[in-house]
Amino acid sequence: MRIMIVGSGAREHAIARAFAQSAAKPVLACCGTTYNPGIQQLTSEYWIGDICCVEQVIQKALEWQIKLVIIGPEAPLAAGLVDALQQQGIATVGPKKIVAQLETSKIFTRMLLKKYQIPGSLKFHAFSSLIGVMEFLHVLGADQYVIKADGLMSGKGVKVAGEHLHSFTEAYEFCASLLNAGGSFIIEEKLIGQEFSLLSFCDGKHLIPMPLVQDHKRAFVDDLGPNTGGMGSYSDANHSLPFLTTDDIVAAQEINTAVIAALARECGVYYQGILYGSFMVTGDGVRLIEYNARFGDPEALNVLAILDCDFTELCQALVAGNLQHAQVRFKPLATVCKYAVPFGYPDKPEKHSLIDVSAVTNHEQLYFAAVNDIDGELYTTGSRAVAVVGIAPTIAAAEMIAENEINCIRGRLFHREDIGQTQLIKRRIKMMQSLRAAVNELST
Ligand code: AMP
Ligand code: GLY
Repeated sequence: MRIMIVGSGAREHAIARAFAQSAAKPVLACCGTTYNPGIQQLTSEYWIGDICCVEQVIQKALEWQIKLVIIGPEAPLAAGLVDALQQQGIATVGPKKIVAQLETSKIFTRMLLKKYQIPGSLKFHAFSSLIGVMEFLHVLGADQYVIKADGLMSGKGVKVAGEHLHSFTEAYEFCASLLNAGGSFIIEEKLIGQEFSLLSFCDGKHLIPMPLVQDHKRAFVDDLGPNTGGMGSYSDANHSLPFLTTDDIVAAQEINTAVIAALARECGVYYQGILYGSFMVTGDGVRLIEYNARFGDPEALNVLAILDCDFTELCQALVAGNLQHAQVRFKPLATVCKYAVPFGYPDKPEKHSLIDVSAVTNHEQLYFAAVNDIDGELYTTGSRAVAVVGIAPTIAAAEMIAENEINCIRGRLFHREDIGQTQLIKRRIKMMQSLRAAVNELST
């Protein structure tokens, strides 16, 4: 079995590791944008180039006689790579362009939920001009709205009132700048609660959920500072999260189930790949923040580190539409992932600074992201550099492992000490308790 991975970050390093552990012993290849030393060790073919250039990636897949491709990042999905691979008869873990709109167009997704009356939606309005913008901002109220650009913006297209926008005028100007850049946008109600990631394997008709994960988007301790690609994440041994109820999980799963059925009806195409729902649990139930059409980064590191079944078989069942027969298991262990990022990240990251990971104890749970290997030395490239994952029976024990390991990494890097720490998790539990209590009080 010859398998190709598209992408070259820590997420793809985790994917390569999952395949490398498979009894099927697949021969691995990678098309990436950078040279990832971790992926390099696990693959027999490696090409560096523009992974959104469909012709070139197809050419590599044909040259290497690839039978299955898994796509890590979203940009190649938006470029139609899956459609082109499937035209060549190559199976893909990753949705076709039309159904990948679930990630690539926030307007498409909100309209889908509305049209098919799927729960989890919120007040929103889509705009392609400034007509009605001020009125709708006033309907939602000061500091009660979020503005989102419609296309793929690498996390830079979302501004939250009260955090990034401080007046209706500022909000209006942001909308105008999105229009000037040629885009449409959405204004929606701002939610208060806790975010969580629910990733599922999806063969178009069946969904198999993975353990729930909480990511940490803010750069600094205590959820301060600018948004990032994700500074780290944790999952619990029971595969739930400490602030969620069983009803919350069922609600999120029901939204996912309704969405894949609606997608198939709307587009006439089955969604085959990883469905990554980003949800917010509020005092009043679960709402959808957004969908991604791929594994999350860092979430992939948490879940794949405890996958307890054969990843190749799982991917084969997914592309065959047979997930209902697949044996998908995860170990009953907690995980904590922490990223080490360059000083100045994300706004003014230091580039090309030397890092040393040789003192890390468990290299099996060390994942390379934005680093360059030059003559055996590792250099930062500006984005998240390396991640470590601690695995243990409790979140607290997993956190200690991750913290010890990340402190062994030398270089001009920082990380968030608080991810997975009991104090932070307790605060989140308490926040949800008081939000739920406030809603209960109102309804009685
Ligand atoms: P997105 O790109 O849609 O995931 O948004 C980026 C971040 O903005 C999310 O991780 C949330 O923290 C925040 N966000 C997005 N939508 C909302 C919303 N409706 N209410 C509150 N925060 C939101
Ligand atoms: N965890 C954030 C992302 O993968 O987009």
